[in-house]
Amino acid sequence: MNIIQIKEGRTILFVPNFKEYERKGTYVPSQAKVFYNPKMEFCRDIGVLFLREFSKIINQEIIICDPLAGVGSRGIRYANEVKGVKKSIVNDINKDAIPIIIQNIKINNLEGIVEVECKDANLLLIEYAKTKSRFNFIDLDPFGSPIPFITSAIKALKNHGVIAITATDTPALCGIYPKACLRKYGALSIKTDFCHEVGLRVLLSSLVYAAIKEDFGIEVLLSYSTDYYFRAYVQFHLGAKKADNSVSMLGYISYCKNCLWREVFSLYDKLKYTCPFCSKDTYIIGPIWCGPIIKKELVLSLIKEDLSDFNTRKRIEKLLNLLLDEYDMPIYYYLVDDIASKLKVSTPSVQIIIEKLKELGYKASRTHFNPKGIKSNAPYDIITNVIKKLGK
Ligand SMILES: C[S@@+](CC[C@H](N)C(=O)[O-])C[C@H]1O[C@@H](n2cnc3c(N)ncnc32)[C@H](O)[C@@H]1O
Ligand SMILES: [Zn+2]
Repeated sequence: MNIIQIKEGRTILFVPNFKEYERKGTYVPSQAKVFYNPKMEFCRDIGVLFLREFSKIINQEIIICDPLAGVGSRGIRYANEVKGVKKSIVNDINKDAIPIIIQNIKINNLEGIVEVECKDANLLLIEYAKTKSRFNFIDLDPFGSPIPFITSAIKALKNHGVIAITATDTPALCGIYPKACLRKYGALSIKTDFCHEVGLRVLLSSLVYAAIKEDFGIEVLLSYSTDYYFRAYVQFHLGAKKADNSVSMLGYISYCKNCLWREVFSLYDKLKYTCPFCSKDTYIIGPIWCGPIIKKELVLSLIKEDLSDFNTRKRIEKLLNLLLDEYDMPIYYYLVDDIASKLKVSTPSVQIIIEKLKELGYKASRTHFNPKGIKSNAPYDIITNVIKKLGK
């Protein structure tokens, strides 16, 4: 294996030479003997930033686990770049990954803090669930869906601990493969103009179902959709009441493919199966998580942190600001292009539509889910009228 040395944040890492698995400008890390994707630095930077804040909030030494570690970039970066990490268990089932992980521990002088394992992630997590050494923080970064590892991660988590979850099976979550979504996540998802938000909220709803079986409720601290994956930082609180509260945050969306009308219904509401605008049959999407996708105070604190360590700081700032802008907005967004094309008018600028809706007294914002998306509490006919007038 051709190994090179790189630096992410404050951490030096030996990684497979990713130029060797570059195909037409994109990396295909699954072709490497040991997994490393340079494009995920942004995701790992946010992980470090998040854990610094979380460690400050809980104000005690923390024990963490990176059960699907590849070269160990996450578990090693957390140990190296976050104050208060007492122990970091870094694990990968791939035997070829282990010598690289060991090299990465040595070069960063983390021998006393980072421990290496080479096991199936579920077996490892269950071993830690049995002892009193459960984790404060677990980073689940699998190939595709995180679902096979969620239950054992919850069992291995301390009360009020956080699981960070990546899901790269976006075609299933976004409804391009509805049957795969139903199989893996137990939810109906179809391709819509706001499918990235549906995907993230379906992922979060599946976490609720996994949590309540273990008597936990969830609190979403930070979650987002970017590039080709979803990422969520979710805190788990023990107690039947907390679990019931989480269930009450689930709901469905009724969606009209013909005119793009949609409405959110709580789990206990009577659903609408007919579009009130064009009278066509609607599609039901869900269950989805209808609660907030970020904890506002936490994101406000993250934005104030010193980001100078991170190569991706500009992207981080942009994402966090967009997440704050769309906080408090309704659950779905509209794609300006799609509505304009339905109305057969030219596409007005997103910013001008937002200003016009605000002038009319409604809330309106951009969304991190899509640069061509708008969120607003204005009724659907008002939004279409604004786009129609501006697009003429
Ligand atoms: C997406 S990669 C992880 C990348 C890494 N977290 C990073 O940021 O560079 C998924 C990793 O999980 C490992 N893996 C797959 N199935 C596993 C299992 N059942 N138990 C433990 N590791 C597993 C693979 O060998 C691979 O290194
Ligand atoms: Zn309709």
